Amino acid sequence: MKTGTILVIDLFAGPGGLGEGLSSVIDASGSHPFKIGMSVEKEPSAHKTLTTRAFYRRIKDSKLGLASYNDYLLGNLTRAQLFGLFPYEAEKALQETLYTPHSLGDDNSTIHKRITELVQNHGNKPKVVIGGPPCQAYSLAGRSRNAGIKDYQAEKDDRNFLYKEYLKVLSVAQPDVFIMENVRGILSARIDGKIIFPRILQDLRAPGRITKITTPKYKIFSLVVDVDNPESPIYEDFTDYLIKSENYGIPQARHRVILLGVRADIQGTPSTLKPFKYQSTVEQVLADLPKLRSGFSKRKDITKDWESTVSKNATTVKRLLKKQFKQAKSLDLKPFKKLTRSATQPVEQSCQMPEHLIEWYRGKEPPCVLNHETRGHMESDLLRYAYSAAYTQLNDGTPPKARDFPDDLAPAHENWKSGSHADRFRTQAANKCSTTVTSHISKDGHYFIHYDPKQCRSLTVREAARLQTFPDNYLFEGNRTQQYVQVGNAVPPYLAQQIGKVVMELLDQ
Ligand SMILES: C[S@@+](CC[C@H](N)C(=O)[O-])C[C@H]1O[C@@H](n2cnc3c(N)ncnc32)[C@H](O)[C@@H]1O
Repeated sequence: MKTGTILVIDLFAGPGGLGEGLSSVIDASGSHPFKIGMSVEKEPSAHKTLTTRAFYRRIKDSKLGLASYNDYLLGNLTRAQLFGLFPYEAEKALQETLYTPHSLGDDNSTIHKRITELVQNHGNKPKVVIGGPPCQAYSLAGRSRNAGIKDYQAEKDDRNFLYKEYLKVLSVAQPDVFIMENVRGILSARIDGKIIFPRILQDLRAPGRITKITTPKYKIFSLVVDVDNPESPIYEDFTDYLIKSENYGIPQARHRVILLGVRADIQGTPSTLKPFKYQSTVEQVLADLPKLRSGFSKRKDITKDWESTVSKNATTVKRLLKKQFKQAKSLDLKPFKKLTRSATQPVEQSCQMPEHLIEWYRGKEPPCVLNHETRGHMESDLLRYAYSAAYTQLNDGTPPKARDFPDDLAPAHENWKSGSHADRFRTQAANKCSTTVTSHISKDGHYFIHYDPKQCRSLTVREAARLQTFPDNYLFEGNRTQQYVQVGNAVPPYLAQQIGKVVMELLDQ
């Protein structure tokens, strides 16, 4: 296939994880068959990230382009100066992200008009629509937030029907294939007391019934379970649509529903993803990043004070853990000296990464580590972090539950030992894949504690991005909180690349 043969329309694009994966697919002849024509995103910082990446893709293969991008990363050029040096590429990148954030449901005319243009210009070559309409009713967090709203009625909340915007785009673009991603909760969400997933499947199979526009029908495939009758794929269990990312080379247990829609008249059966033999671990993908210290959030932040607090905590943690773990005596918890809170130096050259991820993360290596800056924590939490990380290390990668914390370390939460807080200070164990990186990481770092008790901190945006398999030169724009949200929302690009290969092979047949 020639480069750019498959047009991609990315909806609800977030920072562009799905699009990144597809864009990175290379076919046997060395071409990049997927070309993103449009990314729609309403949140300004994610939109900025998408535009920067769209620009990067256009200049990365030129020596001057890459050098200038690296100058931007180093702070030697502003974004306006960078774009000014490559006005054509900048204009194309901005066109790709529609110049400004756009909201499906509000701004449909601009979006649909642009899709129509793109589709017409693309002729009869293949087209793919990607993206997952978010929905309050699907996510467990959204459901519990809504439960707190007086007189909340899911059936009256427009945010629960964004997938209808997706159907409209299917009618306008009439793609050969679509890839729709969503949280696991979509399988069990109810509106008006009824599980809505069967209805969503039915609507996706025949979008025209809802949009009242003549639209092809679609077969909906799972990417992980083989089907008996590919002409009319039906799966026994809805969880057949669930992809467990950790089985496909991602160092994170991220379980997401991914539907592969294929236009009904397309012959051929998409293959399923090939599980990896081994799971990748947190330490394998984080160990080469510069070590950092956390900060104090509610007092003056001085390195020496941090070192003495961490050193004092080390003594307390050892004393507490000795009661349960014999090996606690020999734990090395002495704080590193003169750590900083952010690092710009490049990563260490030696690394423990699994073979399949080394080039993936570190190809076209940036001149400095991006988005790698720690947060401040309350002094009392630093002790809890040290305890949780050391406990996890001694307990072969299983972090302590609330009941495993000594009373002296208990935070002043009501119900601290009850279900909702049981997992409150969770270390991401070095020897396992991480738990799901969610946008909650933007709120506090308690569920995402670094496995190294000597750094005593939660994960940085870059570390979260590594767990999500974003390449190291992927810059997240916006402030730190916005960056965390973007990372937590994304589809792991390395998983998306594998899905892209399935789609490429299908369309190539
Ligand atoms: C789960 S994220 C998508 C992640 C993306 N597929 C990726 O791989 O990186 C959903 C995104 O949809 C955006 N969004 C929500 N409602 C939207 C709307 N009506 N129009 C456009 N974007 C919307 C959110 O801001 C969020 O960034």
